[in-house]
Amino acid sequence: MIKAINLTKHYDKVVALDNLNLDIPDGEIFGFLGPNGAGKTTAVKIFTGLLMPTKGEAIIGGHDIQKEPEETKKILGLVPDTPFVYQKLTGYEFLNFVGDLYDVPEGLREKKINEYLEMFELKEHKNELIEDYSHGMQQKIVFSAMLLHNPKVIFLDEPMVGLDPKGARMIKEILSELSKRKVTVFMCTHTLEIAEKLCHRIGIINKGRLIALGTKEQLHKMAEEQGDRGVKDNLEDIFLRLTGAGEYDNIIKYL
Ligand SMILES: Nc1ncnc2c1ncn2[C@@H]1O[C@H](COP(=O)(O)OP(=O)(O)OP(=O)(O)O)[C@@H](O)[C@H]1O
Ligand SMILES: [Mg+2]
Repeated sequence: MIKAINLTKHYDKVVALDNLNLDIPDGEIFGFLGPNGAGKTTAVKIFTGLLMPTKGEAIIGGHDIQKEPEETKKILGLVPDTPFVYQKLTGYEFLNFVGDLYDVPEGLREKKINEYLEMFELKEHKNELIEDYSHGMQQKIVFSAMLLHNPKVIFLDEPMVGLDPKGARMIKEILSELSKRKVTVFMCTHTLEIAEKLCHRIGIINKGRLIALGTKEQLHKMAEEQGDRGVKDNLEDIFLRLTGAGEYDNIIKYL
């Protein structure tokens, strides 16, 4: 459902993405992990048509995002790293506006909007301007807007940041349910606990290069093979081993 073929992005001298190859099947929840500046957002922007790659192809549901942007965007949903919303619209107006953009029929749209507002406890704020919403409330509106047109593939860039525990749990439940309905989920996150519980497979990117790909068990094995001491069977230890982090002795000296 999501394919990257030699996907590469250069910003002047910086190689933000270096020959990324991925093949993610229908219904998979794929976790894309990596340190700050590793290239995760760059990849999401290319997959969703917000950025042109320097080289390579991004294929979503059989469509090349560069050659068939409109066809591809119809089946895509995106929750970006910073919520993109019109501050001078109310939450309800914004959702209606997005429904218009994606041609969601009016009757169905009304039902869905009301259901999402209820689910995220935003009903009593539906007629307030988005500029008065908290960060988490904006995130919930963006998430609702992304669901309106029933996307087949969802890209999420740090979707849980700013959400309260109930909101985060709600999103986890929604993603699990969507996955059962064969929706494919591509999620960048630093919250390893969420990745560990939710994702079927995990890719780790470091300095633009995919350095590990597989289930948590496969990554654990890989980390053990690379290390000379035991790596614990949790994603945090595995991640730190594979990305070469985890030596803090010198920092503590200068505190
Ligand atoms: N518009 C830009 N111009 C120049 N360099 C950029 C631009 N956007 C990103 N970069 C560089 O590309 C690299 C990858 O950035 P990217 O935002 O994809 O990282 P990330 O993995 O999403 O990081 P984070 O975890 O902090 O969100 C970084 O070195 C960054 O400085
Ligand atoms: Mg990012």
